Amino acid sequence: MKKFYKLKKINNISQELTLSFQKLPLDSYTKANYDFRKRRFSIGKFNYNKVIHWYTNNVFFQSLEINSYNGNLNRNFENIDDNVLKEIETQILPNIICELPLSEYQVGIHQIRVFSEDNTLGLVAPEGIHQDGFKFLAICCIAKKNISGAITQIIDQDKITIVYEKALNPFDLIIFNDEIFYHYTSSFKSKNNKIESYRDVFVFTFK
Ligand SMILES: [Fe+2]
Repeated sequence: MKKFYKLKKINNISQELTLSFQKLPLDSYTKANYDFRKRRFSIGKFNYNKVIHWYTNNVFFQSLEINSYNGNLNRNFENIDDNVLKEIETQILPNIICELPLSEYQVGIHQIRVFSEDNTLGLVAPEGIHQDGFKFLAICCIAKKNISGAITQIIDQDKITIVYEKALNPFDLIIFNDEIFYHYTSSFKSKNNKIESYRDVFVFTFK
Protein backbone atom coordinates (compact mmCIF):
# COMPACT_ATOMS: atom_id res chain seq x y z
CA MET A 1 0.00 0.00 0.00
CA LYS A 2 1.35 3.36 -1.04
CA LYS A 3 2.12 5.65 1.89
CA PHE A 4 1.06 9.14 0.99
CA TYR A 5 -0.58 12.36 2.02
CA LYS A 6 -1.10 15.37 -0.17
CA LEU A 7 -2.44 18.88 0.27
CA LYS A 8 -4.24 20.51 -2.65
CA LYS A 9 -6.29 23.63 -3.22
CA ILE A 10 -9.72 23.44 -4.82
CA ASN A 11 -11.46 26.29 -6.57
CA ASN A 12 -14.75 27.28 -8.13
CA ILE A 13 -16.86 26.38 -5.13
CA SER A 14 -20.25 28.10 -5.40
CA GLN A 15 -21.83 30.28 -2.78
CA GLU A 16 -24.81 27.89 -2.88
CA LEU A 17 -22.59 25.04 -1.72
CA THR A 18 -21.05 27.18 1.01
CA LEU A 19 -24.50 28.26 2.21
CA SER A 20 -25.76 24.66 2.30
CA PHE A 21 -23.87 24.23 5.59
CA GLN A 22 -26.34 26.69 7.17
CA LYS A 23 -29.13 24.11 6.71
CA LEU A 24 -27.49 21.05 8.26
CA PRO A 25 -29.46 19.13 10.89
CA LEU A 26 -27.91 18.50 14.31
CA ASP A 27 -25.84 15.34 14.72
CA SER A 28 -27.74 13.57 17.51
CA TYR A 29 -24.95 11.08 18.23
CA THR A 30 -22.63 13.48 20.04
CA LYS A 31 -22.11 12.96 23.76
CA ALA A 32 -21.22 16.31 25.30
CA ASN A 33 -23.87 18.08 27.37
CA TYR A 34 -24.11 20.74 24.67
CA ASP A 35 -24.51 20.60 20.88
CA PHE A 36 -21.41 21.10 18.77
CA ARG A 37 -21.89 19.24 15.49
CA LYS A 38 -24.27 19.21 12.53
CA ARG A 39 -24.06 16.69 9.74
CA ARG A 40 -25.40 15.14 6.55
CA PHE A 41 -24.05 11.98 4.98
CA SER A 42 -24.24 10.27 1.60
CA ILE A 43 -22.71 7.16 0.10
CA GLY A 44 -21.83 6.61 -3.53
CA LYS A 45 -20.10 3.99 -5.60
CA PHE A 46 -17.92 4.67 -8.59
CA ASN A 47 -16.25 2.36 -11.01
CA TYR A 48 -13.27 2.68 -13.29
CA ASN A 49 -14.97 5.13 -15.64
CA LYS A 50 -15.78 7.26 -12.58
CA VAL A 51 -19.56 7.23 -13.00
CA ILE A 52 -21.00 7.71 -9.56
CA HIS A 53 -24.14 6.05 -8.30
CA TRP A 54 -25.52 7.65 -5.13
CA TYR A 55 -27.36 5.50 -2.61
CA THR A 56 -30.34 6.76 -0.64
CA ASN A 57 -29.89 4.50 2.40
CA ASN A 58 -27.19 6.18 4.41
CA VAL A 59 -26.28 4.39 7.58
CA PHE A 60 -22.76 5.00 8.84
CA PHE A 61 -21.29 2.16 10.90
CA GLN A 62 -17.87 1.81 12.51
CA SER A 63 -16.75 -0.96 14.83
CA LEU A 64 -16.05 -0.17 18.46
CA GLU A 65 -12.44 -1.10 17.77
CA ILE A 66 -12.16 1.68 15.18
CA ASN A 67 -14.34 4.25 16.95
CA SER A 68 -14.50 4.04 20.72
CA TYR A 69 -16.64 7.20 20.78
CA ASN A 70 -19.43 6.22 18.33
CA GLY A 71 -18.57 2.62 17.44
CA ASN A 72 -20.90 -0.40 17.21
CA LEU A 73 -23.77 1.91 16.38
CA ASN A 74 -25.80 2.40 13.21
CA ARG A 75 -25.78 6.14 12.78
CA ASN A 76 -28.52 7.46 10.48
CA PHE A 77 -28.00 10.83 8.87
CA GLU A 78 -30.04 12.79 6.36
CA ASN A 79 -28.67 12.74 2.79
CA ILE A 80 -26.61 15.56 1.38
CA ASP A 81 -28.70 17.74 -0.97
CA ASP A 82 -28.66 16.62 -4.63
CA ASN A 83 -27.28 19.91 -5.96
CA VAL A 84 -24.47 19.79 -3.38
CA LEU A 85 -23.65 16.21 -4.40
CA LYS A 86 -23.55 17.29 -8.05
CA GLU A 87 -21.06 20.03 -7.26
CA ILE A 88 -18.94 17.69 -5.14
CA GLU A 89 -18.93 15.28 -8.08
CA THR A 90 -17.64 17.86 -10.54
CA GLN A 91 -15.52 20.22 -8.37
CA ILE A 92 -14.06 18.17 -5.53
CA LEU A 93 -14.10 14.43 -6.16
CA PRO A 94 -12.03 14.55 -9.38
CA ASN A 95 -9.26 16.28 -7.37
CA ILE A 96 -9.21 13.32 -4.97
CA ILE A 97 -9.77 10.40 -7.34
CA CYS A 98 -6.82 11.38 -9.52
CA GLU A 99 -4.53 10.87 -6.49
CA LEU A 100 -5.84 7.38 -5.62
CA PRO A 101 -4.87 4.02 -7.15
CA LEU A 102 -7.20 3.14 -10.03
CA SER A 103 -9.92 1.00 -8.49
CA GLU A 104 -13.61 0.77 -7.73
CA TYR A 105 -14.45 2.60 -4.52
CA GLN A 106 -17.35 3.16 -2.23
CA VAL A 107 -17.14 6.78 -1.17
CA GLY A 108 -18.77 8.13 1.98
CA ILE A 109 -19.22 11.88 2.21
CA HIS A 110 -19.79 13.61 5.53
CA GLN A 111 -20.89 17.22 5.35
CA ILE A 112 -20.04 18.54 8.80
CA ARG A 113 -20.28 21.80 10.68
CA VAL A 114 -18.65 21.90 14.11
CA PHE A 115 -19.64 25.00 16.04
CA SER A 116 -19.01 26.72 19.32
CA GLU A 117 -21.58 28.72 21.28
CA ASP A 118 -21.30 30.56 24.59
CA ASN A 119 -17.62 29.68 25.05
CA THR A 120 -18.12 25.92 24.52
CA LEU A 121 -15.38 23.93 22.81
CA GLY A 122 -15.90 22.98 19.17
CA LEU A 123 -15.03 19.30 19.40
CA VAL A 124 -13.78 18.33 15.96
CA ALA A 125 -12.41 14.91 16.90
CA PRO A 126 -13.80 13.92 20.33
CA GLU A 127 -12.43 10.40 19.79
CA GLY A 128 -8.83 11.70 19.85
CA ILE A 129 -6.05 10.48 17.54
CA HIS A 130 -7.62 7.83 15.31
CA GLN A 131 -7.99 5.97 12.06
CA ASP A 132 -11.44 5.62 10.49
CA GLY A 133 -11.11 2.12 9.04
CA PHE A 134 -10.96 3.05 5.34
CA LYS A 135 -8.34 2.86 2.60
CA PHE A 136 -8.16 6.61 2.06
CA LEU A 137 -9.56 9.74 3.63
CA ALA A 138 -9.83 13.29 2.40
CA ILE A 139 -10.81 16.42 4.29
CA CYS A 140 -11.91 19.49 2.38
CA CYS A 141 -12.38 22.70 4.36
CA ILE A 142 -15.11 24.95 2.96
CA ALA A 143 -15.40 27.68 5.58
CA LYS A 144 -14.13 28.85 8.95
CA LYS A 145 -15.58 31.68 10.97
CA ASN A 146 -14.35 33.27 14.17
CA ILE A 147 -12.44 30.25 15.49
CA SER A 148 -9.05 29.67 17.03
CA GLY A 149 -7.67 26.12 17.08
CA ALA A 150 -8.73 23.21 14.85
CA ILE A 151 -5.21 22.16 13.93
CA THR A 152 -5.25 19.05 11.77
CA GLN A 153 -2.45 16.52 12.22
CA ILE A 154 -1.43 13.51 10.16
CA ILE A 155 0.41 11.13 12.48
CA ASP A 156 2.64 8.18 11.67
CA GLN A 157 1.96 4.56 12.61
CA ASP A 158 3.76 4.98 15.94
CA LYS A 159 0.90 7.37 16.90
CA ILE A 160 3.53 9.89 18.01
CA THR A 161 5.41 11.29 15.02
CA ILE A 162 3.50 14.15 13.44
CA VAL A 163 4.23 14.04 9.71
CA TYR A 164 2.00 16.97 8.79
CA GLU A 165 0.25 19.73 10.73
CA LYS A 166 -1.95 22.58 9.53
CA ALA A 167 -5.02 24.56 10.49
CA LEU A 168 -6.89 23.86 7.26
CA ASN A 169 -8.14 26.98 5.52
CA PRO A 170 -11.13 27.27 3.22
CA PHE A 171 -10.56 25.29 0.00
CA ASP A 172 -7.66 23.28 1.43
CA LEU A 173 -8.05 19.62 0.53
CA ILE A 174 -5.91 17.03 2.27
CA ILE A 175 -5.84 13.42 1.09
CA PHE A 176 -4.10 10.62 2.96
CA ASN A 177 -3.82 6.92 3.49
CA ASP A 178 -6.06 5.89 6.41
CA GLU A 179 -4.61 2.37 6.61
CA ILE A 180 -1.20 3.77 7.51
CA PHE A 181 -1.61 7.20 9.08
CA TYR A 182 -3.59 8.29 12.10
CA HIS A 183 -5.21 11.72 12.19
CA TYR A 184 -6.57 14.24 14.62
CA THR A 185 -7.98 17.75 14.62
CA SER A 186 -7.82 19.75 17.83
CA SER A 187 -10.82 21.50 19.35
CA PHE A 188 -11.45 25.16 18.81
CA LYS A 189 -12.88 28.13 20.68
CA SER A 190 -14.56 31.30 19.48
CA LYS A 191 -12.26 34.24 19.03
CA ASN A 192 -15.19 36.46 19.97
CA ASN A 193 -18.07 34.70 21.69
CA LYS A 194 -20.57 37.41 20.77
CA ILE A 195 -20.68 36.18 17.18
CA GLU A 196 -21.23 32.70 15.76
CA SER A 197 -18.20 30.51 15.16
CA TYR A 198 -17.89 27.37 13.11
CA ARG A 199 -15.76 25.18 10.87
CA ASP A 200 -17.35 23.61 7.75
CA VAL A 201 -15.77 20.60 6.06
CA PHE A 202 -16.47 17.63 3.87
CA VAL A 203 -14.83 14.39 4.99
CA PHE A 204 -14.51 11.74 2.28
CA THR A 205 -13.96 8.06 3.05
CA PHE A 206 -12.87 5.53 0.43
CA LYS A 207 -13.04 1.76 0.71
FE1 LIG B 1 -11.54 10.80 11.35
